[in-house]
Amino acid sequence: MGEKIAGLDVLGDEYFADPHAYHARLREESAATEVVLPRGMKAWLVTRYDEGRLALADPRFVKHFERFPEVVEKNRVVDTEAAAFDESLVRHMLNLDPPDHTRLRKLVTKAFTARRVEQLRPRVREITDGLLDRMAEQAGTASAVELVDALAFPLPITVICEMLDVPMDDRKKFREWSNALVAGGPDAQAIATAGAAMAHFLSELVEDKRAKPGDDFFSALVHADDEGDRLDRTELVSMAFLLLVAGHETTVNLIANGVYHLLRHPEQLAKLRADRSLLPGAIEEVLRFEGPINQATFRYTNEDVRLGDVLIPKDSVVLVSLLSANRDGSRFPEADRFDITRPAGGHLAFGHGVHYCLGAPLARMEGEIAIGSLLDRFDLELAAEPETLRWRAGTLVRGLASLPVSLTPRGSR
Ligand code: HEM
Repeated sequence: MGEKIAGLDVLGDEYFADPHAYHARLREESAATEVVLPRGMKAWLVTRYDEGRLALADPRFVKHFERFPEVVEKNRVVDTEAAAFDESLVRHMLNLDPPDHTRLRKLVTKAFTARRVEQLRPRVREITDGLLDRMAEQAGTASAVELVDALAFPLPITVICEMLDVPMDDRKKFREWSNALVAGGPDAQAIATAGAAMAHFLSELVEDKRAKPGDDFFSALVHADDEGDRLDRTELVSMAFLLLVAGHETTVNLIANGVYHLLRHPEQLAKLRADRSLLPGAIEEVLRFEGPINQATFRYTNEDVRLGDVLIPKDSVVLVSLLSANRDGSRFPEADRFDITRPAGGHLAFGHGVHYCLGAPLARMEGEIAIGSLLDRFDLELAAEPETLRWRAGTLVRGLASLPVSLTPRGSR
């Protein structure tokens, strides 16, 4: 049994070693369980599907970020230094409730159209092919290729950086700031420094787009107009931050988790190789079975709320585990079985309700192209014992830190 504070489980090593087993135990007991998060705050972790789906969409679970620091303080059980985020990075729609959320979402939807996403398809293929060429070269000289570094990470980053026109030379430092901010390590000063650098960098990017609009997505966002309403400078900086972070931290895990589970389930991989029309369904099953996000972002209760068998008091922090909801056997029969032919629709990997992922069509497209092209080009095998692979520790994302694979170009056997 792991550590306890104030009689509550602390989500620590035992949790990160096998969150599925941990969730299964919690789901069995209750719809939601009060736990202590790694940084010392109490939160209700919702583990069942029905209640998770409800909490994501019910207006009594709010984001309202202006009062959030006060709620965090109320729920703190260990004295840690709060990490301050730069003001201009937090005014994005994932931190807001309707009607403020509705306004921002409407404006960004005007720029992030299905057509614009579809137009990216040839470029996504081109980037993927370039990365696969490099992997083929590596495979010729090394016994294993690290798939996260070689494909899963660079593809989505390149796509989102191109969409926002982040110059090539700036991407490395951008990645460092992003990692410092999202990993949320113990050094509050380091987080503040990275936040300030990121805010400065993005506001220059915004100014640039205002002065010299192009035909790109970011220019469309800067100039998006809803009956005279526009995003102001801070809103643009925050929006760019949200999009870049979403591009850095999520799709990477869809690709790596997907390849990993196909390799661990050879009969499923064989089915997919035999019938490529199964690819979109396989992507949905990866999203359900081991999606990129474990716990959705913070919400808190603005009144006492009964959720299934528990009463969650006002001003409680609430986290919905999407990973757990998607393994709830009452919604998905034999939920712990990876089956690319099952109807996986209705999974919560992209969230639910007003904050449903804006980037879902892009993420699906990138996942299909990456995994589909990889299978076209290579026969592949895991190049490490599954038990030795390291999953990233953190309550937000669920993904492999690295995935070594051995590759044989197809047709060369
Ligand atoms: C497989 C990859 C992805 C997954 C699993 C994913 C998952 C999610 C989830 C679960 C949420 C809701 C969080 C919550 O309610 O707390 C969300 C929101 C969001 N995602 Fe994604 N995401 C992915 C890729 C992307 C990409 C590529 C982009 C942008 C290019 C993106 C942009 C956004 C935005 C802007 C929101 C906030 C929407 C709002 O507040 O209305 N996501 N995503």
